[in-house]
Amino acid sequence: MDAGLTNMKPTDQEVENLHSDPRSYKQDYEDKEGSTSIIFSLPEKIGVLAAALKVFEQHGVNLHHIESRPARDDARSFEFYVACDNLTGGLKEAIEALRATTSKLTVLSRNIQNGSADDVPWFPRRIKELDRFANQILSYGSELDADHPGFTDPVYRERRKEFADIAFNYKHGQPIPRVEYTKAEVKTWSTIFRELIKLYPTHACREFNHVFPLLIDNCGFREDNIPQLQDISDFLKDCTGFSLRPVAGLLSSRDFLAGLAFRVFHSTQYIRHGSKPMYTPEPDICHEVLGHVPLFADPSFAQFSQEIGLASLGAPDDYIKKLATLYWFTVEFGLCRQEGQLKAYGAGLLSSFGELEYCLSDKPQVLPFDPLKTCEQEYPITSFQPVYFVADSFDSAKVKLKQFAATIPRPFSVRYNPYTQSVEVINSKQQIINLTKDIKGDLSLLEDAIAKIES
Ligand SMILES: [Fe+2]
Repeated sequence: MDAGLTNMKPTDQEVENLHSDPRSYKQDYEDKEGSTSIIFSLPEKIGVLAAALKVFEQHGVNLHHIESRPARDDARSFEFYVACDNLTGGLKEAIEALRATTSKLTVLSRNIQNGSADDVPWFPRRIKELDRFANQILSYGSELDADHPGFTDPVYRERRKEFADIAFNYKHGQPIPRVEYTKAEVKTWSTIFRELIKLYPTHACREFNHVFPLLIDNCGFREDNIPQLQDISDFLKDCTGFSLRPVAGLLSSRDFLAGLAFRVFHSTQYIRHGSKPMYTPEPDICHEVLGHVPLFADPSFAQFSQEIGLASLGAPDDYIKKLATLYWFTVEFGLCRQEGQLKAYGAGLLSSFGELEYCLSDKPQVLPFDPLKTCEQEYPITSFQPVYFVADSFDSAKVKLKQFAATIPRPFSVRYNPYTQSVEVINSKQQIINLTKDIKGDLSLLEDAIAKIES
């Protein structure tokens, strides 16, 4: 697994004894059908791991993989990651027995069979695990539907395959391959860019108009140039810690939202077909970089987006649908009120000349953003929206979203650790105590800073 994980000296032998092939220790573990992953903590004491593993043996549960590292939240404990077979033996009983002996135990399950473990869907804990989504595209990889404008164009289809291959082969940490766009592709971009920049000063929100000139200065946003994803990703990283990673087509809502929890935005790199520059049946680079990117450079919006992602981790399917709807009516089609006027901040609006004008006209219905109501709203995906929701500010939208997230039934809270780019699952008393210590530390920093400003 991750090179950041280290051995625990007193129990190395115990660990290795479990494997006939010691090379399997620290290998990249891939989820398999009928496999469940568990993380648990144990105090640093010789023999304690052997006792815990005995529990699996007693219940006839086969272990595929195990590794250890010092627990982040308690210097006197070690954390163990175990992948085990959930098709045979009594895994549920083994987990119950194990819980009685550990201070912290989390089940991270994918491919659970027969309800044999806690019903928490698997989610990535570390940013590197987003690599697992790369090949799970729902539609529009290099394959196009019959009604796609590029369906009968062999040159366009071949080009789409090149972009799909970049995304399929991409791994976290690599630079995003630069693309030399053709003259025809740049022409399509130019048409869209030229029309949209006429509307931005009057129709886009304040935050968008603040960032857009910076993208011109730093990332090559020009009428005659399609910006490169890596340049944009570097810029966003400096502004808010957001980064881009290439994707070949549409991900499932669960996978896409999980990326946001890590401040990662999955972005397409291809451009729409040149025959219809003002229409695309799918996200393309114009939609991503003109619509989404400017707002991800804004700290409040970045935080709001991450909150949707964090709320999605391990959420039940019906709540994923609700969160995807909230994403739709905010990040994609959100309106906000600034100085008494409606402005657009949703990427679907800021990348569509026609809908950007329409959304601020008196034709659509405009309602206040209220997650409990907004999450139930039906919406069309191939025509202009009949209803938009208005946020007072990104900060107020974030507060409302957090309140909504608190209603999601899941047996833990999550917290993003930007130092390790990982998601911490908070479900034990000790973790809450440690969190309180962190908050106390931040408060004393605040008191110190205030005292210095006042003196
Ligand atoms: Fe989008």
